[in-house]
Amino acid sequence: MSPLTVTRTLPADATTAALRADVAHGLTRTPKQLPPKWFYDARGSELFDEITTLPDYYPTRAEREILISRSADIATATGARTLVELGSGSSDKTRHLIAALTGLHTYVPVDVSETALTAAGEALLTLHPDLTVHALVADFQQGFALPGTPGPRLLAFLGGTIGNLLPEERAAFLRSVRDLLAPGDALLLGTDLVKPEPTLIAAYDDARGVTADFNKNVLNVINRELGADFDPADFHHVALWNAEREWIEMRLRARKELTVKIPALDLAVPFAEGEEIRTEISAKFRQEGVREELGVAGFELSRWWTDEAGRFALSLAVRA
Ligand code: AVJ
Repeated sequence: MSPLTVTRTLPADATTAALRADVAHGLTRTPKQLPPKWFYDARGSELFDEITTLPDYYPTRAEREILISRSADIATATGARTLVELGSGSSDKTRHLIAALTGLHTYVPVDVSETALTAAGEALLTLHPDLTVHALVADFQQGFALPGTPGPRLLAFLGGTIGNLLPEERAAFLRSVRDLLAPGDALLLGTDLVKPEPTLIAAYDDARGVTADFNKNVLNVINRELGADFDPADFHHVALWNAEREWIEMRLRARKELTVKIPALDLAVPFAEGEEIRTEISAKFRQEGVREELGVAGFELSRWWTDEAGRFALSLAVRA
């Protein structure tokens, strides 16, 4: 069996430093905001996995449907020898792709969670003993280098996670991805699509309240890491559709006037009754917009696949 290599590009204390900076900045501005990446501690990742099984949350199922039906096309179109996956998490959906990529030599999962990377890497090596797995502990928004592995490369960014970035952050991100690749390498991008508002709201405010717990989990993370005294029960989960920007926003709304102490930052954060923290945007896309954004970043859209119901899209693009 090939060894599993894990490379840390994040210093061990970088996570705490970044969380401190994001909280100090985000909770002292108006309106208050926190980046969505802080949802994903062990509990948050578990809650997200539970979300993906909910009847109301369609994106994961829709994307898996496309991956299952199109993996062979992706393999033929790219002939990839290296597969890089950003935000790989459990690498669950990627298994279909790895099984189809017959010439695959190396898999490079990239994630901020070392535990997720190790577990996923070991599971994959059991299925594909000859695969080289080179896991990277990195924050894909911070920029990182890829190991020197054989081309052509296919870089996958699935789940619709690109929708968590603001348009200007998306442009910078796609540019940096392009700079990691050589001409002829490919990008496989998952994007959730614009659809009627009730379907979108149900996906982000599910009947069982799992998404509400997931949203409030960011408060538990700040309590644990920075010694804060948030009571998650003081906040109400809000999901709304911003029709002009075509994105879902998740917010946490204070049920009453309160003040939260954050000892690690020597900070007291006042909330008015009804005041909100924006915790996530999840942008929804249309084909023309995706083509345009890819083009500006130096990619040419070559294939566009959706699930049967037209809810979600996978784009295959070639680095020009
Ligand atoms: C993992 C970022 C794709 O935006 O749909 C799920 C996260 N937020 N429910 C998304 C999420 C609320 C999810 N992504």
